[in-house]
Amino acid sequence: MTKPVGAITRGTTGHNRLRRADRWIAAVHAPLLRSAARPLVVDLGYGASPATTLELFTRLRRVAPGVEVVGIEIDPVRVAAAKPYEREGLSFRLGGFELPVSRPPTLVRAFNVLRQYAEADAWRYWDVLTGRLAPGGLLVEGTSSENGRRAVWVGLSPEGPRTITFAARFDAFEQPSDLADRLPKTLIHRNVPGERIHAFLSDFDHAWAVSAAYEAHGRRQRWLAAVRFLSVSWPVPPRPPFGGDARWRLGELTLPWSAVAPV
Ligand SMILES: C[S@@+](CC[C@H](N)C(=O)[O-])C[C@H]1O[C@@H](n2cnc3c(N)ncnc32)[C@H](O)[C@@H]1O
Repeated sequence: MTKPVGAITRGTTGHNRLRRADRWIAAVHAPLLRSAARPLVVDLGYGASPATTLELFTRLRRVAPGVEVVGIEIDPVRVAAAKPYEREGLSFRLGGFELPVSRPPTLVRAFNVLRQYAEADAWRYWDVLTGRLAPGGLLVEGTSSENGRRAVWVGLSPEGPRTITFAARFDAFEQPSDLADRLPKTLIHRNVPGERIHAFLSDFDHAWAVSAAYEAHGRRQRWLAAVRFLSVSWPVPPRPPFGGDARWRLGELTLPWSAVAPV
């Protein structure tokens, strides 16, 4: 076997840390998983325990019963620790960005992995990973807080980045720009005046401020009002699968990547 591509990094993980992203994948991208003849999902860099891979497997099997999940880790100790959890449709193996799997994956989830690399490497590995996807496949690359209450992720097709999603528990932020600390590596250094991501987060804070009266009905209502306010000036998808009340009421907001892409 050739040496896995990448470097061993901190293995921090925890139960339900990636629940928000899993919920989005299952709701928004179930048709993609169901349409593939033998849908293969890779969880890249699952960390010191395979907990989040097991959760992904359970959640995806509910919406796409034929899905097979492979957890890939670059640390052999973490692979050995995960092996006892293997079962029909779920396995773990040693590897890196080259993705040592037998067929192109329909979906790759890589969470809290690229944030530990340099920005230039993060752009490069986006290309490497999307180049390994099955036609029409999806890479979900993101970052979350340790308890998963704040997260930001990007959805990429083989042609490049398509969407960015902001997600938070309603009691886990003061204002929406608090999510800036969870931006993916490709954007975190771009959150400065003159960049679209900075303009977006500033406008989101403004929308949040002018929607303050809705907090009397709960923070969820305030979030919904702020998203509607933002929709006037930003290309917020208004309908499912990416937009609409059913998604926004979860404390979620998806935008086209082009709206925030670095200038
Ligand atoms: C912070 S943990 C994230 C664990 C889990 N995905 C989560 O979000 O809770 C990052 C893991 O990615 C692994 N990793 C880093 N680069 C990798 C690569 N190129 N291929 C596979 N695993 C990698 C590290 O060894 C580490 O265990």
